[in-house]
Amino acid sequence: MKLLDGKVASAHIREELKKNISHNKHKFPRPPHLAAILVGNDGASETYVASKIKNCEQIGMQSSLIRFPADSTQRELEEKIIEINGDPGIDGLIVQLPLPKHIDETKIIELINPEKDVDGFHPVNAGKLMLGQKGFVSATPLGILYLLKYYDIETAGKNAVIVGRSNIVGRPLSILLSLNKEPGNCTVTLAHSRTKNLRDVCLTADILVAAIGIPGFITADMVKEKAVVIDVGITRIDDSSKKSGYSLKGDVDFENVSNKCSYITPVPGGVGLMTIAALLSNTYNAYLNKFNGN
Ligand code: GUN
Repeated sequence: MKLLDGKVASAHIREELKKNISHNKHKFPRPPHLAAILVGNDGASETYVASKIKNCEQIGMQSSLIRFPADSTQRELEEKIIEINGDPGIDGLIVQLPLPKHIDETKIIELINPEKDVDGFHPVNAGKLMLGQKGFVSATPLGILYLLKYYDIETAGKNAVIVGRSNIVGRPLSILLSLNKEPGNCTVTLAHSRTKNLRDVCLTADILVAAIGIPGFITADMVKEKAVVIDVGITRIDDSSKKSGYSLKGDVDFENVSNKCSYITPVPGGVGLMTIAALLSNTYNAYLNKFNGN
């Protein structure tokens, strides 16, 4: 078994971006700029956003963290998005999800200018993805493609099974892997909570992606010998032995599955890091689109 090491692959992407941003210093009037809106104080969201901001700094990208209290109104958020949409000094805008229950998430996402929608959540970008057109692709599926590419994993003609049909991971990844592109050209099955005989379905997978958010859900008996296993899960489990008070657990029973598969992503240190690298890459592309034209 070989590790699909997100640390190594994401460092490569960040280095490339850093080099490009530095080379462009004299060509463009300013560096790329990502704005992140964070509503409330959810622990996991705080960690993710802090990591996104830190990564921006490391590669010479500007970033702005805009915080709103958990009881902010729909109107207050919408006004901020409209302001950022019209700000020529900002290339990319993300609104960290999930949002508090009283906020209409769909309306918020639809308000983001698709040209700044570096999360790829806007219906325009989701539609372009479905048609195989150029647009912003959601960062986790894009990060997974970067990882497969970095490790030269052959995908054409392979059976890919994705467990979990979320709008931000499972469904966009199912489309990406089915496109006539490299990586791509897979025969894709998108499995979910109503799938019958999930174990048998998973056993058909040459490439198995777990994106359901249930720690340890994919066990060794569900994995074909020599399969490539991608673990998107990242659940916080109470752990008093850790300074933070928790440890991170993936959707895959790593200990047992790793004896059977050809490649596997660790948690942490796998897909999570690739997601951030893909977000930076999308932001850099939004910046290039602005100054170079589409
Ligand atoms: N919440 C979980 N994943 C994501 C992501 O990729 N982007 C945003 N904005 N929120 C998330």
